[in-house]
Amino acid sequence: MSPRWTAFGENRFSHPRLVRRARRWAVARVRASAPWVDPDDFAVVVSELVTNALRHSASGYSDGGVDVRLLMDGTTRTMRLVVVDDGHSKTTPRIPARHPTGETVSGHGLLLVATLARDLGYSLASAQERFCLVWAEM
Ligand SMILES: Nc1ncnc2c1ncn2[C@@H]1O[C@H](COP(=O)(O)OP(=O)(O)O)[C@@H](O)[C@H]1O
Ligand SMILES: [Mg+2]
Repeated sequence: MSPRWTAFGENRFSHPRLVRRARRWAVARVRASAPWVDPDDFAVVVSELVTNALRHSASGYSDGGVDVRLLMDGTTRTMRLVVVDDGHSKTTPRIPARHPTGETVSGHGLLLVATLARDLGYSLASAQERFCLVWAEM
């Protein structure tokens, strides 16, 4: 059966201290509404995805920001975090294999997220502006 998502939080964060404020808000919402999610693991996941938006997209510009959405499927007890950046990036998220072989020089953030999340993916919300939507389920 495909998931039936219900939104339980949506917010846009802009500078300064964007990562900290996004993490605090999202962790509080998840503690209240999705008790099966480990708040410490979730804090790492939010921090990594929001930091990536800042580092790798126009969200990092002084007038930029990051959209954070929280959804859940109560029947399967699945929470989905969605982070949408301001786009205009030349790259897309490099989602690692769950069991990487060899040496990874960078890309540890998404590797960590892939380890903590049940599932992880992304889509480009617009072909031109290349807004990147990254989601992680826990
Ligand atoms: N929101 C994003 N927009 C564009 N590219 C991204 C985004 N998030 C991640 N990436 C790409 O995926 C790579 C891997 O991300 P990550 O594992 O967090 O490593 P790091 O952020 O340390 O480079 C990044 O180096 C970047 O090229
Ligand atoms: Mg990163």
